[in-house]
Amino acid sequence: MITFELPKDHPLVACLDDMLIWLLASEVPNRIVGQADKCDLSEEKLNDRIENNSANYCRFARFESDDGYNFDDIQKYSIEQYVEKTGRKDFSMIPVAKTLYPPKEGYLGWHIDQVGGRIYAAYAEGKSFFRYRDPETKEIITSWDKPGEWNFRIFDFDEKNPMWHCVGAEDMRISIGYRFV
Ligand SMILES: [Fe+2]
Repeated sequence: MITFELPKDHPLVACLDDMLIWLLASEVPNRIVGQADKCDLSEEKLNDRIENNSANYCRFARFESDDGYNFDDIQKYSIEQYVEKTGRKDFSMIPVAKTLYPPKEGYLGWHIDQVGGRIYAAYAEGKSFFRYRDPETKEIITSWDKPGEWNFRIFDFDEKNPMWHCVGAEDMRISIGYRFV
């Protein structure tokens, strides 16, 4: 996984900051669903998910361009970063999760996603993280966000070696991602 930050005056950061202002004034924070009391992001829970196919839980709201915001510039600059950091050029791009986690109780339990490369931008106001199990070593790794700035991550979901992952946030967290196949 590649992690990086961009300067505050970078066009992608400027676009994301603008989106954040819109998002917090929109209806999206009123649409949060899920079960706050079911957050379990432990390795034990992951093993239980894999071995017993146990239930998974989350608490967040999704948002999309249907919500009245134009994500074209964020998309354009995100693709630029993906190309710059990976060198890949031969791909189709599919927008994926745009997610708002509420303060105190937002999370997304252990799961795997469709194959392909990803770039994610995440902004959090308090302690928050992206946690994953390294597909090769099986080690659980917690990638902490830096609060108050946009945190960028690039990684791949492999078909043969699925990467289990989850998200935890003590305060509000926003993430926006793109998929490359
Ligand atoms: Fe995911």
